[in-house]
Formats: sequence, C-alpha cells, structure tokens
Amino acid sequence: MILKVNDVSKHFRGVKAVNGASFHVEEGEIVGVIGPNGAGKTTLFNLISGSLPVTSGTIEFNGENITNQKAYLLCQKGIGRTYQVVKPFGGISVLENVMVGAFNRHNSREKAVENSLKVLKRVGLYEKRNQIGNSLTLADKKRLEVAKALATEPKLLLLDEVMAGLNPTEVKEILPLITELRASGITIVIIEHLMEVVMTTCDRIVVVHHGVKIAEGTPKEISNNPEVIKAYLGEEVSYA
Ligand SMILES: Nc1ncnc2c1ncn2[C@@H]1O[C@H](COP(=O)(O)OP(=O)(O)OP(=O)(O)O)[C@@H](O)[C@H]1O
Ligand SMILES: [Mg+2]
Repeated sequence: MILKVNDVSKHFRGVKAVNGASFHVEEGEIVGVIGPNGAGKTTLFNLISGSLPVTSGTIEFNGENITNQKAYLLCQKGIGRTYQVVKPFGGISVLENVMVGAFNRHNSREKAVENSLKVLKRVGLYEKRNQIGNSLTLADKKRLEVAKALATEPKLLLLDEVMAGLNPTEVKEILPLITELRASGITIVIIEHLMEVVMTTCDRIVVVHHGVKIAEGTPKEISNNPEVIKAYLGEEVSYA
C-alpha cells in the first residue's frame, strides 16, 4: 500500500473541508477522487502533499507516517502533485519551468536540463521548450503542470483536474499520457469531473461529499451506487 489516509480532517474555522476521510491507494493503481464542487478534493491533495497541515488524523506513505511533514520533504520522498489552477512561472521558458521541478532531485544544472528535456518529450512539449510559460494554451499549461510534477520523479502523482477546461480533442490527446505514466510505474490519484475519463481510466474511485467519503469502489460499483447518484451523478446518469 503506497498511500493510507486515516480518519483525516481539515477544518478551516467553521468549514469542515475534509471530515474524517479514510482511503488507501495500492502501488500501481489509478484511483479517482470525485465529488461536487467544494467537496474537499483539492484540500485532500493539499494535506497529502504537505501544502496544509491536517486538523486531525494521519497519512502514511509507503508505511511511514508522513502527517504534517514539509512539502519539499514529501516531494523528495516521492509525492508529486499538479495544481488545479495552472500557475506556470510565466516569465521563464517551458524548459526552465520544468527545471524548477528537476532541481528538487538534482543539484547539477546539466542533469536538471537533461532530465527536463526527457520529461518534455514525454508530455509532448519538447517542441515548445523555449517558449515563455505564459504563451502556452490552457491545454499545454496543463501538460506543463504534469511535466513540472514529473520532473520531481514522483512515485505517487496527484493530478488535480488536469483535463478541466480542455476540449474533447485535447482530453483525448492527454489521456494516453496518464496511462503511460502508470505503465512506467507511477501510482496515480486523479481528481476529475469528467465522468467518462474517470470511469474508463480509474481502477477504483473514492467519492467525497461535504468532506466525507460517501463511497468507494470500482467504476461499475460507483456508477450503480444510489447514494453517489443522488449526491453527485444525478438521477439520469448511469455508466453501468
Ligand atoms: N485555504 C482555505 N481557507 C478556507 N477555506 C478553504 C480553504 N481551502 C478550501 N476551503 C474550503 O474548503 C471547502 C473544500 O474546498 P476544496 O477546494 O477542497 O474543494 P474541491 O472538492 O476541490 O472543489 P472543486 O471541485 O470546486 O475544485 C470549500 O468550502 C472551500 O471554500
Ligand atoms: Mg478542487
């Protein structure tokens, strides 16, 4: 088991953004986290990646209790993440953006460049490596988010809505990247609103609502779960 979230809560004053959530991720899995807006999905990622301290509960990574450890340490241990709101370092090149991630693991500039170029080839941004971050389309900024995270050489990659805002063609283009990442040995947790993506890509799905996990199971189990349909999918939607 690569990740174990045990009864974790995060309260912002009165707001119980995450409220006693427990779930786990096995090595090599793609696990989807779904739920309505404000359900606490991004907050969960912030807790796992060390961007925010938990209010209570514990988080284990590869059997080690990593609760409330510093983000840069967790990154070194192998937890990578993307941000829902893309934020490239706008004024520097695509390559330099990725190098910021690579420097997490390599001190030498040469090695950082070499690895970053490899990552850029992998995500399909190699040709745009010298463009300024801000000049990219949204779809390419999302790829750059993935590239920055990949350059840190994660074992566990947390993807927060990397397909939101993309058109169907762009979604189709980025999907193979996700399955390729898993094939290369990276475990993936993906927050995604696009049900077709979640249902076809994930091995298991965790459903959160008001900070609480309301269901967990295979895509088929989730799409047939009455509570999930009521809270999230809507009565008319069925993926059985
Ligand atoms: N730093 C913060 N300070 C105060 N409240 C916060 C903070 N971060 C999140 N919240 C609140 O916690 C709740 C959960 O937010 P979160 O961003 O985790 O939801 P989400 O499931 O990612 O939603 P979305 O699908 O819209 O991205 C919301 O009510 C949000 O306003
Ligand atoms: Mg979010």
